[in-house]
Amino acid sequence: MTRSFILLITILMSFNHCTEVHSETSKDSAIEKKIDSIIKKMTLDEKAGQLHQIMGSFGTVTDDLRGQVKSGQIGSVLNEIDPKTILELQRIAVEESPNGIPILFARDVIHGFKTIFPIPLGQAASWNPLLIEECAHISAMEASSVGINWTFAPMMDVCRDPRWGRIAETLGEDPHLSSVLSSSMIKGYQGNDISEKGRIAACAKHFAGYGAAEGGRDYNTSLIPEAELHNIYLPPFKAAVENDVATFMTGFNDLNGVPVTANKYLTRDLLKNKWAFDGFVVSDWESISQLAVHGFTENQRESALKAFKAGVDMDMQSYSFLKHIPMLVKEGLIDQRSLDDAVRRILRVKFKLGLFDDPFFDPADFPEMVNDDYREKAKQLAIESCVLLKNDDQTLPLEASGISKLAVLGPLSDDPYEQLGTWIFDGDEKHSITPLQAIQEYANGNFEVNYLKVLETSRSVNKSSFNAAEELVINSDAVVMFLGEESILSGEAHSRARINLPGCQEELIDEISRMGKPLVVVIMAGRPISLENVVNKADAIIFAWHPGTMGGPAIADIVFGKVSPSGKLPVTFPKNSGQIPIYYNHKHTGKPPTKEKAVLIDDIPVKAKQWSVGNVAYYLDAGYEPMFPFGYGLSYTQFTYENLKLSKDVLTSKADELTVRVDLVNNGDFEATEISQLYIRDLVSSITRPVKELIAFQRHALKPGERKTIEFKILVEDLAYYYPEKSWSTENGNFDLWVGGDSRADLKTSFKVKK
Ligand code: NOJ
Repeated sequence: MTRSFILLITILMSFNHCTEVHSETSKDSAIEKKIDSIIKKMTLDEKAGQLHQIMGSFGTVTDDLRGQVKSGQIGSVLNEIDPKTILELQRIAVEESPNGIPILFARDVIHGFKTIFPIPLGQAASWNPLLIEECAHISAMEASSVGINWTFAPMMDVCRDPRWGRIAETLGEDPHLSSVLSSSMIKGYQGNDISEKGRIAACAKHFAGYGAAEGGRDYNTSLIPEAELHNIYLPPFKAAVENDVATFMTGFNDLNGVPVTANKYLTRDLLKNKWAFDGFVVSDWESISQLAVHGFTENQRESALKAFKAGVDMDMQSYSFLKHIPMLVKEGLIDQRSLDDAVRRILRVKFKLGLFDDPFFDPADFPEMVNDDYREKAKQLAIESCVLLKNDDQTLPLEASGISKLAVLGPLSDDPYEQLGTWIFDGDEKHSITPLQAIQEYANGNFEVNYLKVLETSRSVNKSSFNAAEELVINSDAVVMFLGEESILSGEAHSRARINLPGCQEELIDEISRMGKPLVVVIMAGRPISLENVVNKADAIIFAWHPGTMGGPAIADIVFGKVSPSGKLPVTFPKNSGQIPIYYNHKHTGKPPTKEKAVLIDDIPVKAKQWSVGNVAYYLDAGYEPMFPFGYGLSYTQFTYENLKLSKDVLTSKADELTVRVDLVNNGDFEATEISQLYIRDLVSSITRPVKELIAFQRHALKPGERKTIEFKILVEDLAYYYPEKSWSTENGNFDLWVGGDSRADLKTSFKVKK
């Protein structure tokens, strides 16, 4: 998928007029007529009820809940997952409420329901849209089997700050990669026909700019200039509309002074009018009543008014719409037509889901959860998520036949819960297979596995087991250590100022590395970890993120060479927290750093004159390069790129197409998959553009020695950039183009656009 398709949609949509109420342009007139007839019968209170979402009561139908459903005061319930309770609430809604409108049952199914896949950031490291789609489908099947018909996923906030705990839920720092992969997730949840059994409504969240929380502190203010907003943060959301996502969610953040839950420009003008989104928009949890806490409104009534006017259709949990909308309509502050539009959007999603035709479900109609097929997919995605960061002297894969004793150390070696990651409300550790279990299975009596947890948790500072660990290592041929972060150290509200390995894990690596045995470090974490103090001490490093239910077997297959790792980083890894933000698609600046000019602290002469240093953009104590760049990941083989050729040098019209051909060669003796990345740079632009922009990528599996010519097709639209004055456009001028295995790709050519 390239940018051209996204752009075409935007251009077509720009012909739409920008009135406040827009959704009558929707396609299915039969559904629209049915909605008309329901809306005509609804009272003002029932309409406000459709706009109201509340928390379930955990497996019971309380009298209060029964009464509210019966009187038509609830449009959606979240976090109820007991099938019997869901069926009973739905029965009351369709049989006893005034207009028989079914309920939407929502749940955060973020990276799996019972079968837990790697965290989204880990999934993004696979760069595998098809596999990600299949896994989202499995999540939808499992969730539907208990009656969930709406998930609050995918989260597509672009994020350049690994301190932010919610980076775990993102698809990384790149707008193109995030757009492609979040679109896959939407397809996986919703399918081609969202009313099919086992499909659920998806939700594009958080609209918008939440990933730019200042300082990486969750819920914090985002300040994003217009061009940056459109070029970096909005593309995945635009792609979501193209992919017919059923719903959108606003966020908790204030964007440039206007909280996004009351941001008319984003929700009403851009999403609903310009992009012609015909689904509905839900607030985040109580984010409507929080408008007053932001200091944006006086009270809950004004919050309801501002959020509604801005384009929010459903209120998650804050009761603001339910309590205030009827009166705001009576007072003429909200017009009937706008209210009907919001109700229409919600009913439309319910119709599309087929809930009016068949609101019930039978868990027995679905495959068993966590079945072998699902586990196999979870394992495959976990394998493809692993990124090999370092592999000196081909330490990996370990030759099982050459080992008689293997030391397995570390707090995450055998922790079925912590490997699952953040946001796994329904995941159950009893289904996990840990790395230790998987390694023991590999060993199968052929070599000895000597395990010591050493640290109670990833945060532990108690070194009392270090001696025992050393003892064990002395008697082993090689060491595999499972370190990282526990699940709770990332995710919502779990930001960190320092993103190194917590507790005394770095000291443990120091101790063990001194012993001179081949040392493999496997890191499981919810964010990039700064590895500055670690990288020279391990022989090999695998970054496995939080890999989910099947993390153990996936890692074992890589460690023992059943497969080659193929994952590539979806986000830049800084050397240390002080370098943040650091990302590949930065601007060139007027003083770009070079090796010669970026003099490091120890090389600065004593009493140096003011002008002798500091003349380029870098840190004296950290240089200008990250630890590992975006797109980076090693393999057990070596891939090279040769013969980069373009079909032409000049693109002369908007419809012109460029074919890029390059030979990919597997120069090693391992069959492996390479993720080939294509980057461009617009050299001169009326607002400055990044030094590199990913615009396409492909996956290719090559046998040892195999050579393959790969081909990318690029349209002029794929080169476009958002300019505040003229929206999306591709300016004439010279472009550089690179193809390679990461964002440092240096095989380069160039072409011109001259329309
Ligand atoms: C708050 C989170 O920000 C959002 O992502 C989530 O979907 C809702 N809570 C519902 O749990």
